[in-house]
Amino acid sequence: MERVLIVGAGQAAVAAAEALRGGGYAGALTLLGDEAHGPYHRPPLSKAWLAGEMQAAQLVMRAPEMLAKKGIELRTGTPVAAIHRADQVVALADGTALPYDMLVLATGATPRRLPGFEAAAVLRSRDDAEALAARLQALKAAGRPLTVVGGGFIGLEVAATARKLGLAVTVIEAQSRLLARALPPLLSDWFAALHREHGVDVRLGASAAGVDPAEVLLGIGVVPNDALARAAGLVCEGGIVVDAHGHTSDPAIVAAGDCTVRRLPDGRLLRLESVQGATEGGKAAAATLLGLDKPFTATPWFWSDQHGRKLQMAGLSAGADRSVVRGALDAPSFSVWHFVADQLVAVDTVDASREHLLARKLLDAGRRPTPEQAADTAFDLAGLLA
Ligand code: APR
Repeated sequence: MERVLIVGAGQAAVAAAEALRGGGYAGALTLLGDEAHGPYHRPPLSKAWLAGEMQAAQLVMRAPEMLAKKGIELRTGTPVAAIHRADQVVALADGTALPYDMLVLATGATPRRLPGFEAAAVLRSRDDAEALAARLQALKAAGRPLTVVGGGFIGLEVAATARKLGLAVTVIEAQSRLLARALPPLLSDWFAALHREHGVDVRLGASAAGVDPAEVLLGIGVVPNDALARAAGLVCEGGIVVDAHGHTSDPAIVAAGDCTVRRLPDGRLLRLESVQGATEGGKAAAATLLGLDKPFTATPWFWSDQHGRKLQMAGLSAGADRSVVRGALDAPSFSVWHFVADQLVAVDTVDASREHLLARKLLDAGRRPTPEQAADTAFDLAGLLA
């Protein structure tokens, strides 16, 4: 293997590139990014950066010089037009062709759009964030409110930031509760109350019809960028299908991050949209290229900051048949432990980072408290790891 091309220059791409170098790969290594920016951190774009609490320089994940030092070539503003698998060549939009021995797809995802709302803001990229920041300024100056369509993570984080900036904010969620994809009803209700306490007009089971698109942020989910892979004939099912090693249906191509969907051993498909999914998926894919067996099987985790409260999620609570609260929902910190048939599957914590880390360790190690133990604040959970 002498030439590795990575399509994408985000979190998964950087993780894969650095893991390849870290694992001793000495051949050519190039990141092909379509954005004008080099690798940057996306999570602050809806939070500290949007609130004006962070310098643009702090968004930089890896400066080009740092990548160059590691022998990683970064080409920004370089969209890939096609993958010719038979010749192992990537065609760039400008007509050039680049050969590869191994290809990593880390193409990310794109915000979903709503017909009629072409003029609405979305938030995924740095350019999106800059446009949104300018729009919030303009709305504020004009004394106009912001309408957020979608009560998921992006919508709610932007709603909280916009309130901090002094805007009137309405959240329109189509479902009967917030964050339904990721959280149980108990925490959906908790977040609705939190937002209302901070002056957000939360409307559930609501429609965006009639709202001026120019005053809207759309946060209605993302679509995996799998068009290149699909056009090249790779197996895709709402994302590029990979296993825990990042294998695609082509032995010369691995994939990682938000563009992928993982086939689990039991046949189900798992889509993770997270920094962890990108970094761990990127590392697993790089290990595969190095001939190592380091699958991404760790417990999924995710976080969100809203109105000064920090939610951290470990595991996947969807499908849980029992949830117990450790502590109290109105306390400064608490956690919710989720079970399927009395087996711990996930833990959501609020302002309890140490408990979140402990939960991940318990889930990774398969040391699972019973629901009664989890609900009992006097029970020493850390003792289960001993
Ligand atoms: N009108 C109102 N709400 C809608 C509509 C609609 N037409 N369509 C979808 N929704 C709601 C969904 O019910 C859901 O609550 O939008 C929300 C979308 O939430 P997510 O799926 O969490 O997506 P989003 O908030 O856009 O986040 C996108 O950013 O923070 C990351 O990891 C996060 O990958 C996620 C990504």
